[in-house]
Amino acid sequence: MDELFTPSLLVFEDRLETNLQRMQSTCDEAGIDLRPHIKTHKLVPVARRQIELGAKGLTCAKLGEAEAMLPSGVREIFVAHSLVDQRQAPRIAALAEQLDELRLATTSEAHLEALIPLIHQVGLNLPVMLAIDTGLNREGVRALESAQRMASKIDAEPLLELAGFYTHEGQFYGKDHSNRTTDVEALLTHICTVRDAINPALPVWPGCSVSATAITQQSNGRVQAVRPGAYVFGDLSLTQNADVMPWDHVALQVLATVVDKPTSDLALIDAGSKTFSSDRAREGISALAADGRDIAVVAVNEEHGYVRGEDVAQLQVGERILFVPAHVCTVVNLADEVKVITTDQTIRTTWPIDARGKNQ
Ligand SMILES: Cc1ncc(COP(=O)(O)O)c(C=O)c1O
Repeated sequence: MDELFTPSLLVFEDRLETNLQRMQSTCDEAGIDLRPHIKTHKLVPVARRQIELGAKGLTCAKLGEAEAMLPSGVREIFVAHSLVDQRQAPRIAALAEQLDELRLATTSEAHLEALIPLIHQVGLNLPVMLAIDTGLNREGVRALESAQRMASKIDAEPLLELAGFYTHEGQFYGKDHSNRTTDVEALLTHICTVRDAINPALPVWPGCSVSATAITQQSNGRVQAVRPGAYVFGDLSLTQNADVMPWDHVALQVLATVVDKPTSDLALIDAGSKTFSSDRAREGISALAADGRDIAVVAVNEEHGYVRGEDVAQLQVGERILFVPAHVCTVVNLADEVKVITTDQTIRTTWPIDARGKNQ
């Protein structure tokens, strides 16, 4: 590891493997399919391992991510985003032809209006999942009547088949986790009320790393798949904010170098917003030292991180520090590659980030 240039993204392979296995066995025990979101890792080798361990399919946000994951051997992909652009029709058709199943999303009545002509352009029968908003106030139907109107409209379209319901419960990141059991129960009741009013035989697929384990444990047959993403690596959001992951399970860390110490209580590192992104965890922190020292990246410019904390006084220029980032998904998307680190702290291999920047 001493040979690495910084900033570098390190993936600790034993922790990654444990995180992958743990989520798969949680799902297996509950009889629920795992359809992980690949937006976090964007890596073919990780997708391949998720499928080997039993993932039924993958979730992607964008067509570009789905295309990048094809070498993993995936057979079923759900693109959980509001596709509208008719220029994408040939790409959708090509993906559908290379997979056993490509599922698309429909996220509101306004979105469905735009999806229908796109599907006509594609010219293939495609299953769609209807999004239900559960409190994030992003995509998804707000009212049962709206979901019912969408379901009738989909029924009337020969090329579309309503194949189920999905949610992204991103609001769980900011909730008081001591109420999680109650919140998950309310979530399940809400989704199932919509589903049962339309067709009780259809599956529901929630998707969020904060709620995934609780949902599998509380589902009692109500949920058929979960689609978490960030659980593979973890970050400050999952450890400190949401408290669903112990600190020593975090599998991706950023190695950075102290490049200056303008004052005794401020160190500057060579990783700023072009490494950590501008996403912050609680108290506006971009990253924390992984070894538990009080060393926090409290502000970022493009190529500088401002590091403060009790232990900054001891830092020397040239010292290298491992950081846990606030939000790992955006960090991965900014890098070209990750270094895979063994338990004896050597580099096993380098993985290019296959779907990095595949935002179209
Ligand atoms: C639609 C959708 N599904 C699933 C996920 C996965 O959630 P998490 O990052 O909490 O694992 C996300 C995350 O943004 C999402 O937007």
